[in-house]
Amino acid sequence: MRKIYHANFINPKSDTKADYFENSLLVVEDSKIVEIVDYSNYTGETKDIVKLQDSDGLLTVMPAFCDTHFHWVQDPVSDMDKENLLAWLEQYVFPEERKFEDLDYAKAKAEFFFNKLKRSGTFYGAMYASIHDNSVVEAFNSSVGDFLIGNVVMTDNSPEFLKRDLSYYDGLLTNMYQKFGKNYVVTPRFALSCNPKIMTFLGDFAKKHDLYMQTHLSETINEINITRDYYQSFDQYKDKQYDYMDLYDDCGLVHEKAIFGHCIHLTDHELDLFESSKAKIAHCPTSNAPIKERGLGSGLLDYTVLDQRGIDWALASDIGAGPYISMFDVMKSFVDQHTAVGRDTDSVRALYRSTKHATEMLGMKSKGALDPEYSADFICLPSAKKSNAKDILDDILALPRDSFNELIVSAYYQGQKVF
Ligand code: GUN
Ligand code: FE
Repeated sequence: MRKIYHANFINPKSDTKADYFENSLLVVEDSKIVEIVDYSNYTGETKDIVKLQDSDGLLTVMPAFCDTHFHWVQDPVSDMDKENLLAWLEQYVFPEERKFEDLDYAKAKAEFFFNKLKRSGTFYGAMYASIHDNSVVEAFNSSVGDFLIGNVVMTDNSPEFLKRDLSYYDGLLTNMYQKFGKNYVVTPRFALSCNPKIMTFLGDFAKKHDLYMQTHLSETINEINITRDYYQSFDQYKDKQYDYMDLYDDCGLVHEKAIFGHCIHLTDHELDLFESSKAKIAHCPTSNAPIKERGLGSGLLDYTVLDQRGIDWALASDIGAGPYISMFDVMKSFVDQHTAVGRDTDSVRALYRSTKHATEMLGMKSKGALDPEYSADFICLPSAKKSNAKDILDDILALPRDSFNELIVSAYYQGQKVF
């Protein structure tokens, strides 16, 4: 079935280009985009056109967001005070994740969270659940969009109530893979919550089924030191030189389908590993921001070094360390923090790394842009006062942080209105 939407459209093309189609028509056939045409050149039937407008004029329409790293089970703790990564995990995150063992709790939280996620315009991404099957099943049941979802794996250095052994994860992963196939993502929480044996099992599992793998890497200096010290206790690392990322690499977890969150404090050797393996990075500026900006104060990744080496990266909220679910908030923090240290970036790059490039990084085809043949997934924003993509985006990012969750007027997934 053909549908035609009349609005103004922003279409991300690259780090330096976002096209703007003012007063235009988005032609959708079933679930796919056919084309965007200028309204004044349109000669077809006009009665079928859906005019997207508010009292000030035509709405601004752009593709849905892709969040490349977030923990849906941490939504309830995103408001909590933060001190540093490891203390915050112990104090707030682990007790919250424990609750997802209860099916009724997982169902209620999923219904609430995925309604909020939809309204924030995020329809694609890679997400972390808890160690419990409920937390993955309910996420797949309640989400609107295309997501990679995995259970965090925790066998070591974790509270007893979140610790399980290899045989538990063997059963869990087999069951989850049978249910969700390629959308299941192998997820060692981080090397510190694992050991070489379980990480090798996870590496083999991902390779055997050709699955994505996601984990954390080099978020804080303290975490790096504690992790490297812990691995000294295993024979193969005694008195050896190794970087944090080598622990993953030795277990077969570093490859083209691996997504590493944070990566703030990488060594030259680790950057080499990214370059040669084509592994990807999820950059989480709101989560890493100073504590006064409601982050964990972990530092700021220098994405320009990644660009120089051709290492792939995209933006992510890392909710609950990131305080807001909206990718507009992540974009704003990205632009503000990098601009403050003298990097020449802007909202156009932020948009590209939250949409088209983010979906490409996760291997999602024909999603995250308003191009022909792409899935008709788009969000509608209030009418704008400017007439080019960058100025419109700048005006949006100048809004207060608290306003982003309520900003989106309506949204469509696969051509269907979802709110
Ligand atoms: N490192 C290990 N687990 C986590 C987590 O849940 N959040 C963040 N930000 N870092 C982690
Ligand atoms: Fe995280």
